[in-house]
Amino acid sequence: MGQLAKLKGASRVIGSAGSDEKVELLLKEYGFDAAFNYKNGPVSEQLRAAAPDGIDVYFDNVGGDHLEAAIGALNRGGRIAVCGMISVYNNTEPASGPRNLVRLIQTRGRIEGFLVNDHYDLQPQFVREVGPWVREGRLKYRETVVEGIENTLEAFLGLLRGDNIGKMVVKL
Ligand SMILES: NC(=O)c1ccc[n+]([C@@H]2O[C@H](COP(=O)([O-])OP(=O)(O)OC[C@H]3O[C@@H](n4cnc5c(N)ncnc54)[C@H](OP(=O)(O)O)[C@@H]3O)[C@@H](O)[C@H]2O)c1
Repeated sequence: MGQLAKLKGASRVIGSAGSDEKVELLLKEYGFDAAFNYKNGPVSEQLRAAAPDGIDVYFDNVGGDHLEAAIGALNRGGRIAVCGMISVYNNTEPASGPRNLVRLIQTRGRIEGFLVNDHYDLQPQFVREVGPWVREGRLKYRETVVEGIENTLEAFLGLLRGDNIGKMVVKL
């Protein structure tokens, strides 16, 4: 998502990942301007250090402390698209919400859910735009391939643990 944001004109893109190896990839291979390992310290502090001037957009795949940190760093008129909340999927109790929603008043910030199924009409446009970027090497990606449908469950659990470096794919 950070690569797409840059290709679409974002001046500065910041990423968070769960290992130093993944952080290195974000910086060296995917062209992020800053990145941090969320396991190395509080997300809010690491985000503040990476974005001292705040953030305008946050694409949420994580929820929890990441979402709260993003709200905390949001600039006036900032936008948050909620695509996923992987940090809460295994909770046995409902997760408490971010504690700082009041900042949405000061910032006039907006949070909106996003579901890919609602946007299939844009798929041809997506392929038209993204295809050349991939061919030209401007948009890079990796895949973590697991062989055999019998290993699907382990692949899924691995995804939740962060074992995958790229898109988790099960090869039949
Ligand atoms: N809204 C939609 O239409 C839609 C469609 C598909 C998927 N999604 C959502 O998009 C997100 C990404 O899904 P994906 O299938 O593309 O897989 P993905 O990007 O490979 O995401 C899995 C990664 O999430 C990280 N992760 C796991 N637990 C975490 C935690 N507690 N805190 C922070 N990061 C954690 C792990 O990396 P680390 O090593 O960095 O922890 C793992 O490799 C998910 O939240 C998924 O539910 C939404």
